Amino acid sequence: MRYKHLEKIEKHAGLLGALIALMVSLGGLAEITPLFIKAHTVEPAPGFKPYDALRLAGKDVYVREGCHLCHSQMVRTLRFETQRYGDYSVASESVYDRPFQWGSKRTGPDLARVGGKYSDEWQRLHLIAPRSLVPESNMPNYPWLAKRPVDGEDIQARMRVLRLLGDPYSEEEITAAPAAVKDRSELDALVAYLQGLGVHNVAAAARTVSP
Ligand code: HEC
Repeated sequence: MRYKHLEKIEKHAGLLGALIALMVSLGGLAEITPLFIKAHTVEPAPGFKPYDALRLAGKDVYVREGCHLCHSQMVRTLRFETQRYGDYSVASESVYDRPFQWGSKRTGPDLARVGGKYSDEWQRLHLIAPRSLVPESNMPNYPWLAKRPVDGEDIQARMRVLRLLGDPYSEEEITAAPAAVKDRSELDALVAYLQGLGVHNVAAAARTVSP
């Protein structure tokens, strides 16, 4: 009659429900807690700096416009991925991304290593009218980006908040932010952001973790 207790539980829906909730919570905590701790233990790769003012503005445009809905930023550790895009992505490359842009939806190609692949001029034209360069493209046009100025005060405030969260911005960088983005459009910012993707020391980043 070892299963008598179990039978009791099975016959009491309320008790069964409560115990299931308890087990699911414990399981969830066991899965989630290490991730929270780990998020703070991933160090930026050597020489890897937080986004400068213009690229930070560009990253915000990227998030606002939903580029992540069609583009991932994570080269997986698969041979055909590294052959197509370059070195696979490592966690230490994303320490300054809030939210991270890894994703799994690829209507368009992965962008983790797109920096330097094309000229600034190509990127500008492509964002304004993708089909002028790639006729079969289904990427939307983003013509308004060229007309919208970057708000320097706003970027400065964002850098202050990011410093509170631990990003190593110096007081000089924060003070200089409005001047750094003065008279720049959101298109300039987004192109600067794209051109910086994956061009930091990827080899050094890879050395900080084992695959
Ligand atoms: C509806 C899906 C979709 C959205 C949204 C989208 N793209 Fe694309 N993107 C594509 C497709 C498809 C391609 C490949 C064809 C081409 O080059 O236009 C592409 C290509 C690109 C390329 C060239 C990549 C390469 O390696 O050749 C860049 C850079 C790019 N997109 C940036 C962006 C940015 C920045 C945004 C947001 C402002 C964005 N995309 C939004 C679908 C999309």
